[in-house]
Amino acid sequence: MRRPELDRTFALWFSSHRYSRRLHKTVRRLVPDSDVRFLLSESGSGKGAAFVTAVAYRLSEQHRLIDATLAEFKLTHEQLLQVKKRMRIEIEAGLRKKSHDHAKVKMLPTFVRSTPDGTENGDFLALDLGGTNFRVLLVKIRSGKRRMVEMHNKIYAIPIEVMQGTGEELFDHIVSCISDFLDYMGIKGARLPLGFTFSFPCKQTSLDAGILLNWTKGFKATDCEGEDVVNLLREGIKRREEFDLDIVAVVNDTVGTMMTCAYEDPNCEIGLIVGTGSNACYMEEMRNIEMVEGDQGRMCVNMEWGAFGDNGCLDDIRTIYDKAVDDFSLNSGKQRYEKMISGMYLGEIVRNILIDFTKRGFLFRGQISEALKTRSIFETKFLSQIESDRLALLQVRTILQQLGLDSTCDDSIIVKTVCGAVSRRAAQLCGAGMAAVVDKIRENRGLEHLDITVGVDGTLYKLHPHFSKVMHQTVKDLAPKCDVTFLLSEDGSGKGAALITAVGCRLRDAEHN
Ligand code: BGC
Repeated sequence: MRRPELDRTFALWFSSHRYSRRLHKTVRRLVPDSDVRFLLSESGSGKGAAFVTAVAYRLSEQHRLIDATLAEFKLTHEQLLQVKKRMRIEIEAGLRKKSHDHAKVKMLPTFVRSTPDGTENGDFLALDLGGTNFRVLLVKIRSGKRRMVEMHNKIYAIPIEVMQGTGEELFDHIVSCISDFLDYMGIKGARLPLGFTFSFPCKQTSLDAGILLNWTKGFKATDCEGEDVVNLLREGIKRREEFDLDIVAVVNDTVGTMMTCAYEDPNCEIGLIVGTGSNACYMEEMRNIEMVEGDQGRMCVNMEWGAFGDNGCLDDIRTIYDKAVDDFSLNSGKQRYEKMISGMYLGEIVRNILIDFTKRGFLFRGQISEALKTRSIFETKFLSQIESDRLALLQVRTILQQLGLDSTCDDSIIVKTVCGAVSRRAAQLCGAGMAAVVDKIRENRGLEHLDITVGVDGTLYKLHPHFSKVMHQTVKDLAPKCDVTFLLSEDGSGKGAALITAVGCRLRDAEHN
């Protein structure tokens, strides 16, 4: 039991000169490197208990507020079913002639009418533009008993000023990279057939023509929207007057990925990208694609699902942080679904939440550092590291410190929780979209049960420790009549472009004979 009168007596005794002098001297002698000051407490224990209670209360109140904010990122089964339903409505709008022009999910015909059958053969060039780098590839495909694909490639950086400069500068840069590659491989005079993987929304009228509807991700080069990108490439080649190329196909990365995986697994009739951006394609029945003549067979449709929600149909689940990320992006109001799902934006959502939490005093001692003000600081690779289960909290703290965020252990726990909430929602939303696609294919074919494979590529899907698992589970929950296998594509877009080019060449030769 405490005896307040004794405490008081002790304080008097303590303050007596002799005792304190002796105590100070002893402490100095024992720890000469430390500067220890003694502060007399006024009614310490009573106040102390009150302080402890107040701090605990503030922390529990903080946790409650943090949880309340992150609760907005937790979607219920019902909400996810709604997302699936809405995606289905948007798919139908994109496919129908009367609604196509106003539809946000564009459902663009690709003129790819079948997946590979193993008879593809020859040497091809492939270009891959759409992520952070530009790649040029030489792809050798052999059919029959010697069936194999051999690839040589070189990666070139695209400086941000080229991504966002003039169209002429962008295509001159691309052509100069091709020139370097042809020299490097010693094939400048060969005039090989070429497939151009161009990972942006393109309205195609044939396999080798694609009008860029609008730039997405980090691109903004002028004078390209509304133009045929194959023409822009041809003009660039002409300007250089150094070599010629036979451009056979323009290909979206989703389609390239689907084709690459279909080369290994004929059941693969869907392509999915979850990288810098996000999108999907699948084999749709010709009779449902009203924008293309003919009812026979199937054609691959590039959904351009990143634009899902651009008509406001996802507004009820978008948070203030999603809106902030959208407002400050290069294409505000556009690609709203993509901005909730893909690598280029998830880190930005996280950063916006952390800024808000810091302003509210929950994080970083209320100090918004220069690092936190830096856009795109949380790249996919950092998000993936922070969320790795194998990482101890101290290592999370080290990563944050490397990024310039001076965090305590408590801060690190909060940052990890925020990353988890944002990436989990992304994976679930992506799964809801995929559930709509597989169920549509199942219904198209009048099946009670569908077995299908999805070819997947993209850094977020590949690097993130939980994204794929959560996404797969969501598809299972929302489309229980489908058994969906996910096949990781190796080097998808380049190989796929070459496979499509091979098919294109075969069709062209058949037409000419
Ligand atoms: C583009 C798509 C592309 C996707 C993945 C999106 O921003 O609009 O065409 O497939 O990113 O790269």
